[in-house]
Amino acid sequence: KKPAGAPDKSLARKVGKVGIVGAGLMASQLALLFVRRLKVPVVLTDIDQARVDKGVSYVHGEVDKLLDKRRVSQDEANRLKALVSGSLDKSAFADADFVIEAVFEELGIKQQVFSEVEAVVGPECVLATNTSSLSITEMAERLEHPERVVGFHFFNPVAVLPLLEIVRGERTDDATLATAFAVGKQLKKSSVLVKDAPAFVVNRLLTRFLGEVLASVDEGTPFEVADTALDPLGLPMSPMTLLQLVGPPVALHVAETMHAAFPDRFGVSANLKRFVDAGKSAVWTWDEQGNATLDPEVAELWQ
Ligand code: 3HC
Repeated sequence: KKPAGAPDKSLARKVGKVGIVGAGLMASQLALLFVRRLKVPVVLTDIDQARVDKGVSYVHGEVDKLLDKRRVSQDEANRLKALVSGSLDKSAFADADFVIEAVFEELGIKQQVFSEVEAVVGPECVLATNTSSLSITEMAERLEHPERVVGFHFFNPVAVLPLLEIVRGERTDDATLATAFAVGKQLKKSSVLVKDAPAFVVNRLLTRFLGEVLASVDEGTPFEVADTALDPLGLPMSPMTLLQLVGPPVALHVAETMHAAFPDRFGVSANLKRFVDAGKSAVWTWDEQGNATLDPEVAELWQ
């Protein structure tokens, strides 16, 4: 069934090579997904060789896990590994048809990245962004071809969660959008078209949810009480485990974006800010039996 709002699929362009800007948590998971499902060459770039190597190693390691679980054959594993490569130079994207960025969640950085990519790719190459909260229209506005920019927002863990938010900016054209939907289908994701509004749909709801849990801690509810209060609802993860999965710096950034857009509806937790400013990103540590304990240093920060 055609997703609501998707243009005619005959407008979609063929994607024979993919570029990924960034090689971090989301970018490396995207590289794995793209090689596995599209089976086309995928190039990762980042700001230094160590990051690029780490991204490529992640993909190789995950392909080895698929091999161990017998989900791919040895030949297929070799083929998938050979499809992923890393480069420090964005000119490696010159013949790419689809480039997705998953760099730090800041508008200026993402605009700069897209300008650099536009300088090396052809005019029809789609520029997709995995932004979780920023405006697609603003991200495209300085480009020569803003009509090729589209939001393509995945959820962590990328290999497991089926949802893909596809975001149309003011200037995005039908061919770009049709290509985005076609790629989403090849990736076996459930694509939905969402409005170019702050944090789109999912993060708008998630930020409000996590924000209320954090606010109750800020107001004096003990950390563990706030984190377990919703257990009877059977959520797949507790709120603070989800916060750790999302990454507290990202969660803080999204909360600040939402607070700027809707100050009366979204707050910024003082505890979360203190925690991120202290350079922390892990809330829990797990022992060998899988029991989670609150990092003692973290416990001191949350009060
Ligand atoms: N990476 C890759 N695969 C993972 C994974 C990870 N981090 N965590 C779990 N998996 C895989 C496991 O390997 C397993 O796969 P298999 O069945 O093929 O062996 C499968 O997921 C199920 O894992 P488990 O049985 O160990 O654990 P659960 O059944 O508890 O599921 C979970 C784990 C899928 C992570 C589940 O807890 C969950 O859905 N949590 C909520 C996650 C969520 O809400 N994410 C959205 C965050 S918001 C976001 O990303 C947007 C951003 O912009 C901020």
